Amino acid sequence: MSSNHSVWLDGRQVAPDEASVSVFDRGFLYGDSVFEVMRTYGGVVFGLGMHLRRLGRSAERVGIRLPLSLAQLADEIDLALAAFAARELKLRVVVTRGRGPLSLDPTTAGTATRLLILSPLAAQPEHLYQRGVAVALVPGGALPGSPAAGAKVSNYLANLLAAHEARRGGAYEALLVGPEGQLREGASSNVFIVQRGRVRTPRPEAGILAGVTRAAVFEAAQRSGVPLEQDVLFASDVYGAEECFLTSSLREVVPIVCADGVAIGSGEPGPVTRRLHACFRELTAEGHFGATFAD
Ligand SMILES: Cc1ncc(COP(=O)(O)O)c(C=O)c1O
Repeated sequence: MSSNHSVWLDGRQVAPDEASVSVFDRGFLYGDSVFEVMRTYGGVVFGLGMHLRRLGRSAERVGIRLPLSLAQLADEIDLALAAFAARELKLRVVVTRGRGPLSLDPTTAGTATRLLILSPLAAQPEHLYQRGVAVALVPGGALPGSPAAGAKVSNYLANLLAAHEARRGGAYEALLVGPEGQLREGASSNVFIVQRGRVRTPRPEAGILAGVTRAAVFEAAQRSGVPLEQDVLFASDVYGAEECFLTSSLREVVPIVCADGVAIGSGEPGPVTRRLHACFRELTAEGHFGATFAD
């Protein structure tokens, strides 16, 4: 099952089927860990510096002390990439708070556990981009203001269940909506709408994860001369949008053509979405975006 993967646990390569963490690890017990998911283009991780900086910020927000500096972690990733059979891969980095007694008190944990999982990259089906996808709007998302809001913490159950619910209803992704109807993000993606030629996306203050792909779309918009703003958006903005799309590291830019059964714009992927996706792909080919550790 896991033979295609490569697993590195606390700096040592471990056979995937034998890799395990303690049942007393707080990552297992409480979802007390932070993570990143990245992918390569031409063997180079896209936005590595940005992903690692976000890992650092996520850890800081929830008070997990990283066991290595970001530069050391990058070196460890380089080693793991070099030892991996496939050139195009996805990489999951997880840092848990570590093992400790059965205690709710996070300060009782020992040293953080770090894990790299490398897997061959499966290409996304082309129809996602050609035809676009449907989404369902569902209540959910982190509470804005909580330390975990905006941090990529591993406690994803609410998001996974929201996505599962959306899929059961025939949609591809769930868009999470706050108690007053504010649009937040996808269960595992960020969301953008296009209205009167302007691209709009929820602000970080909505309690969203500020995606690396989201940031790359900002750059793509600037390069393409497309106005883009971060704003407070509502579910109604999605239904009334000319275009809508979602972004994530593994899926890039996916047009959304239907929300809760309502066609978005023409019901087909729109020109602004296509332009931004093309420009995003140029960024991935250039390979510099978000590469460095500097803020
Ligand atoms: C909740 C959430 N928002 C946004 C994203 C997109 O982030 P990125 O573009 O960095 O992959 C993800 C990715 O997994 C996510 O889980």
